[in-house]
Amino acid sequence: MKVLMLNGSPHTNGNTALALGQLEAIFEQENIKTEIIQVGSQNVHGCTACYGCAKLGKCVFDDIVNKIASKFKRADGLVVASPVYYAAPNATLSAVLDRLFFSTQFDKAMKVGAALTVGRRGGLSTAFDQLNKYFMISGMPIATSQYWNCAHGQKPGEVLQDEEGMQIMRTLARHMAFLMKSIALGKEAYGVPEREDFIATNFVR
Ligand SMILES: Cc1cc2nc3c(=O)[nH]c(=O)nc-3n(C[C@H](O)[C@H](O)[C@H](O)COP(=O)(O)O)c2cc1C
Repeated sequence: MKVLMLNGSPHTNGNTALALGQLEAIFEQENIKTEIIQVGSQNVHGCTACYGCAKLGKCVFDDIVNKIASKFKRADGLVVASPVYYAAPNATLSAVLDRLFFSTQFDKAMKVGAALTVGRRGGLSTAFDQLNKYFMISGMPIATSQYWNCAHGQKPGEVLQDEEGMQIMRTLARHMAFLMKSIALGKEAYGVPEREDFIATNFVR
């Protein structure tokens, strides 16, 4: 069982990394493998809406997005973590997620998703809501915690002083582990849910 974790911060040892560290420790206790990919420091541009991925089966820009895609395909869960920038996720992470979810055709249903945001003071919930949208449109059950998955801090390291925030992260990891293990058992017992052919109505005739 494996969880892929994306860190949207440009800081390898910043507050978002420390929040992810809380999850990582719990996953280790739960015998779940983890891999963290540092996204925020990469040179990534946004989706150009060329629709080339529909033919290629991957993004036409062969960068970190396609590398993440193959790891995501094999993972049982995806954690997406972001520092809050102007009440939104970091722009580099958003560019990666737009292209990752749009360009990949593998079935993401029943892979567990979890988002978390870290900020100094405000906009953490709106950024958190935005990240959850990628999971919801993909049939991915979302792991939740004892509160919205947010923690406060500004300078690197400060987030550790947010004891409630750090507990939220640990609880999130325990809930996510339980969900992934339960889904694995459920798949054995019942298989995966039936999938109808996609009906696309754009309300344009
Ligand atoms: C461009 C920019 C915009 C920011 N906007 C917000 C914001 O809207 N709300 C907030 O609470 N913090 C904001 N912050 C603060 C960061 O979210 C905060 O310092 C966070 O802990 C950084 O995480 P990191 O150490 O993982 O990079 C902003 C920081 C930057 C650089």
